[in-house]
Amino acid sequence: MRTAVAQACANVALVKYWGKRDPRLNLPAVGSLSVTLADLTATARVAASDTDSPPVFTQDGRPVDGIAAAQMSSFLDEIGRRARFAGRLATAVEANFPVGAGLASSAAIYCAVASAAASVAGLRVSRGELSGIARVGSGSAARSVFGGFAEWSRGDRDDGSDSIARPLLEEHEWDLAVAVAIVSEARKEIASRDAMEHVARSSPLYRGWIDAQEEDLANARRAIAERDLDRLGEIAEENCLRMHATCLAARPPVLYFRTATVAAIEAVWELRRRGLSAYFTIDAGPQVKVLCRRESLATVAAALGAVPGVLRVVSTRPGPGVRMIEGEAPWR
Ligand code: PMV
Repeated sequence: MRTAVAQACANVALVKYWGKRDPRLNLPAVGSLSVTLADLTATARVAASDTDSPPVFTQDGRPVDGIAAAQMSSFLDEIGRRARFAGRLATAVEANFPVGAGLASSAAIYCAVASAAASVAGLRVSRGELSGIARVGSGSAARSVFGGFAEWSRGDRDDGSDSIARPLLEEHEWDLAVAVAIVSEARKEIASRDAMEHVARSSPLYRGWIDAQEEDLANARRAIAERDLDRLGEIAEENCLRMHATCLAARPPVLYFRTATVAAIEAVWELRRRGLSAYFTIDAGPQVKVLCRRESLATVAAALGAVPGVLRVVSTRPGPGVRMIEGEAPWR
């Protein structure tokens, strides 16, 4: 039986993806920009079987069922179809961090599965094209193909061929760090794909979100090129709070913050008042990710660790793009 193993890191969006122009292909309503995180990884083993049995999806050794299994199985089928692959594909995934809790596990998982499945199915694509394939599994997975800082374009085409990610700056090109304050390990109540659809449909603030995005992207791109942490951090915080504002204004509202999330935000602002460059961002969950210089990481991690309700802090840095552990890379 042919197998391949790939490993991908989660990424955290500094300018976020929130809303779709096409839900089937996960084509985003806006472009987004992220940093890949070295210490939050998912490893996917994909095997081809000649039997007609349905594709299998296990996570951390346990079979997955329900919507998550259906999504993964149609994703594997889609890769098989693109490659004109005769067999069926099955995957076993392991993540080294809590899944479904707002830590971009779907980005790491779908990126790793896309790479291992493409390898087994015999696809040969560019890294950009691979990001377009990963995107169909989970939008944010498009960005985990690349290390360091990456931008995923909205694109205009209906087939999504121009809605792919590209690298902006490799992980070793800027000495930054990220502290992740974990506030809850529970699965979130509303998945990001459902929440963004609900918010786009019902939030009166959603239009304002769309209108501000291009400027945030342009400013963030420039800040990265100039290695300007304070500028990038300000944009990331504003963009994050604007995204959560669209959620709060939805009917009914979507609130991802917990008490400790707000306390961690205040701790970051207190660090800034003391002259330290630290900036937060929060995705569709309660965890707080803080961007800072590498030499300030220990201080930032200690400040977050002291916040009541913070369970633990993961200290990490910009990480690499997806890599093969076993099998031939599907990218040229
Ligand atoms: O890729 P999804 O469907 O899990 O959506 C991710 C949405 C956010 O994490 C909130 C923002 C982003 O750009 O990653």
